[in-house]
Parts: sequence; structure tokens; C-alpha cells
Amino acid sequence: MTSSTAGLAGVVAGHTGLSTVGKEGAGLTYRGYSIEDLCTFGSFEQVAYLLLYGELPTGSELSAFQQRLRSKRALPSPLMVALEQLPASAHPMDVLRTGCSVLGCLEPEQQPSEQHRVSERLLACLPSVLLYWYHFSHSGKRIDTDGDDESIASHFLHMLHGKSPLESHQRCMDVALVLYAEHEFNASTFTARICASTLSDLYSCITAGIGTLRGPLHGGANEAAMELIDQFRSAEDAERGLLEMLARKAKIMGFGHRVYKKNDPRSDVIKQWAKQLCDETGNKTLYEVSERIESVMLREKKIYPNLDFYSASAFRCMGIPTPMFTPIFVLSRVTGWSAHVFEQRADNRLIRPSADYTGPAPRAWVPIEQR
Ligand code: COA
Repeated sequence: MTSSTAGLAGVVAGHTGLSTVGKEGAGLTYRGYSIEDLCTFGSFEQVAYLLLYGELPTGSELSAFQQRLRSKRALPSPLMVALEQLPASAHPMDVLRTGCSVLGCLEPEQQPSEQHRVSERLLACLPSVLLYWYHFSHSGKRIDTDGDDESIASHFLHMLHGKSPLESHQRCMDVALVLYAEHEFNASTFTARICASTLSDLYSCITAGIGTLRGPLHGGANEAAMELIDQFRSAEDAERGLLEMLARKAKIMGFGHRVYKKNDPRSDVIKQWAKQLCDETGNKTLYEVSERIESVMLREKKIYPNLDFYSASAFRCMGIPTPMFTPIFVLSRVTGWSAHVFEQRADNRLIRPSADYTGPAPRAWVPIEQR
């Protein structure tokens, strides 16, 4: 492969009306609204509605949407039975991928006109899938997943900890969900669109997206960032460790981005939340270590943190186990993936690029006894 096409970097592979990522002057926007405004004035449910239905909801549309989502949180019994078979050692991303696939068998999308029903169902019940499995596999407890929490953020935290979340935790989780919701033609979204372009069903597209998101170069970076931060006991220790890692050319997870070569605007937002929650929970060292890693990366490599880096500290302060960090990305990005599938379907052509052949020249068949 020539270096100009490696990783399809810089290749425009289609068009979208969903988001601008790193475009001159526009910053990160979802359907024209800046990510900063959506985080400050909006909520994840409003953003989900915007992505799925094209416009921000009116007051009554939002209430009806939230009501529908609340009514779709409970899991069908065969799905609970399937989740009960999965071991505690399974990665939660594998559990979500499996849960999504099982639901596709139980409540299939028979035709594309059902796409909004399916996307709302997944948005509403993926947190239930994750936490039903988590509690059952870790403590044998069958939790009630159809709670009446107002938002997806509080429903998730409530099911995880078994009690209503603090206001600041609920708000920070809501902001994280807004920030993770959509990001143009990233690897998992492109995967979902490729799947949609074959006229496959929405569950298959989302399942494929989850599998792609799992890797540490994509969604898995928030977990890898936490593991990195956890290695260090102080800012000085972090500085020493980072310099050693950079000397042996290690990749530092939670830093760098294919499109943003300067700062990731999502990082600025989540960093403020990480600071606030670290202050509130007395996690001084966690924040100091994180900031020192950031300053060493800027000084030594001029590489900026992406959304995943400070999300890790914020999630830790909310008491979320590290293996659940990437699944939180799924609970949010299911909106962006769905919206991209809808967009692909509305103007579809099979996505099927070509490759430069680098294999052997044509050659004669060799009978097996002569090889
Ligand atoms: N740590 C150390 N060096 C990094 C780096 C990181 N996180 N990200 C990029 N670099 C360096 C590369 O080593 C490379 O250096 P070189 O030119 O001397 O070989 C240069 O920066 C370009 O990086 P490259 O990997 O080619 O950029 P890319 O556009 O293909 O990759 C990422 C983008 C996101 C895959 C990459 O930055 C990365 O692996 N980051 C860590 C994983 C991560 O946080 N992913 C979440 C993304 S939101």
C-alpha cells in the first residue's frame, strides 16, 4: 500500500450532514450546533433526538421521547437468560456486542421503516444489558433494569451503584454521553455504514460498530489511558515513566487523533469535569498525574489529549470500573451510528473500494504431490 492511502488518512469517503470534525472555523458540531453549546445548554436525550430525528426536540417532543425511552429499558427474558450464561471474566464490550446481537434475533428489524423503533430500543436498553450482566455475573443479583430515572446518565449510574447518583456525577455523565455521541467517519461509524450499504439490518450495523470500537486505537483508549495513569503514584513518577515510554517509542493511549492535530475540543470540556470531580472526591493525585502526563506529551511530542484521556479520570471519580469505560462510549455512540445508518440508507450505494494487488504474478497450478 502506498503511504498516501495508508489508513485512508485524509481520504474523503462520502458525505454527511451529521457532524463537522476539525473543519476550519466550524469546530465540532452536531447538525450545526456546537459541542460546547450542546454540553452547556442541552442534554444527552436532546442530542440523541437531534441526531436521530434531524432537529432539536420541542418540549413536548422531548417529553414523549424520554417517556418512550423509559418504557424500553426492560429486557426480554430470553436476553436475560443469554446474559446469565456469560462469565464475569467476559469483557463488557463483548457482552454488549452479544446483547445487541441477541436482541436482533428476538426483536428483528423486519424492514427499514422500523429503524427509529430499533434505534430507540437499543439506546434505551443497552445500559440495562451491560448492568444486568455485570451484577448477575459478579454477585448473582438479578437487578431491576426498568427504573424510572429521568435520564440515561442517571439510569446508568443508578443501576451501577444501586442508588441515585449525585447531581454532579449525573451531570458529568450526561456531558460525557453528549461528547461521545457522534464523530463523523471514524472507524466504527464507517464500519456501521459499510454494513448498512449492503442493506443489512440495524442490529448488524451496530454490532459491527461495537466490535470496531473495542480496539485500543479507537474506543478502547479510555481504558488504556486509565491503566497508564494507574501506574504512577505522583506527578514526578508520571514524568519519569512517560519519558521512559517515549524513549522506547511507546504509544501513549488517550493522546493523538487522526483528524485533530491540535487540541480535541471534547478534551477541553471533559478536562474541566475531571478537575471538578477530582476536587470533589479528593482525588488530588489522579488529577496531578493526568495533568503531568498531558504537559510531558505537549512538551516532548506536541501531541494533545483526546476525549478518552480525561474521560478516564472523570469516570474513575464516579466509581465506574475501568472495563466499563469503553462500553459507556457504546451507550452514547449508538445514536451517531444509527443516524449514519439512516443517512447511508437514504442515499445508498454499496461501499466497495478496490485494492492495489501486491501478491505473486500469475503462476501454474502445482499438483499436491509436487509441492
Ligand atoms: N503516543 C505517542 N506517539 C504518538 C501518539 C501517541 N498517542 N499518537 C501519534 N503519535 C506519533 C506516532 O508515533 C507518529 O510518529 P512518527 O511519525 O515518528 O512515526 C506520529 O505521531 C503520527 O501518528 P500516527 O499513528 O501515524 O497517526 P494516526 O493518524 O495514524 O493515528 C491515532 C491516530 C489516534 C491512532 C494515534 O494518535 C494513536 O494511536 N493514539 C493512541 C490511541 C488513542 O488514544 N486512540 C483514541 C483516538 S480518539
